[in-house]
Amino acid sequence: MADARKPLISGNWKMHHNHFEAIQLVQKLSYELTTEDEDVVDVSVHPPFTDLRSVQTVIESDKIPILVGAQNCHWEDKGAFTGEIAPSMLAKLNCELVIVGHSERRELFGETDEDVNRKVKAVLTHEMTPIMCCGETLDEREAGGATDKVTGQIKQGLAGLKAEQVGGLVIAYEPIWAIGTGVTATPDDAQEMCGHIRTVVADAFGADAAAAVRIQYGGSVKPGNAPELMGQPDIDGALVGGASLDAADFARIIQYRLAV
Ligand code: 13P
Repeated sequence: MADARKPLISGNWKMHHNHFEAIQLVQKLSYELTTEDEDVVDVSVHPPFTDLRSVQTVIESDKIPILVGAQNCHWEDKGAFTGEIAPSMLAKLNCELVIVGHSERRELFGETDEDVNRKVKAVLTHEMTPIMCCGETLDEREAGGATDKVTGQIKQGLAGLKAEQVGGLVIAYEPIWAIGTGVTATPDDAQEMCGHIRTVVADAFGADAAAAVRIQYGGSVKPGNAPELMGQPDIDGALVGGASLDAADFARIIQYRLAV
């Protein structure tokens, strides 16, 4: 079954690049990618909301094999939620993936597991794929609580979903201490937690869902460490922050297979 999981390499641009810079970055990236890449790996970019329309237009008009994704959304379809973006709006822009529950949303903007669960369901309702993030802080890891923290996030984030919905989604394990720090989890540590996440999914939703769900690792993924991380049996992709802002670096991560 493991072969059935096509790797997904996603670039989370966070709050970087206006729409002009976004167009340039997508065009530069398209020059770096080959048709073989398209066959063996899925690629997505997650620009800020204000760039989405421009990025979507370039990708569709130039037939660039990159999926358009968002970084967040609200769970309601419309209403008095000043400053929020509805999942239906993202679906209308042909967004295929939405990052949900990134640690920066949880830590800086107070998102709870219940919020994450509502968002996951809303994204699925609009036939997009959630990339649901989880991960522990350094204090939690040092206190021996990493596994419990991640287990709780997975169980609560996926509560109430059907097994076939879980099989189709993406979970990103991003240890918070590895994000933007240049410190990466060792491939063994990353594999251990991603393997654990698959076990949690298997216990709650069954073996088929666990075999199908794609699990990304995120946290200081660079061209140099991507091959070894991607070589782990339970790591099916990468959620890349800083290195996805550089077309050449992001392309080398996407082409990790050529480095091994
Ligand atoms: P960095 O790759 O910059 O560490 O960011 C990881 C991340 O948060 C991706 O969502």
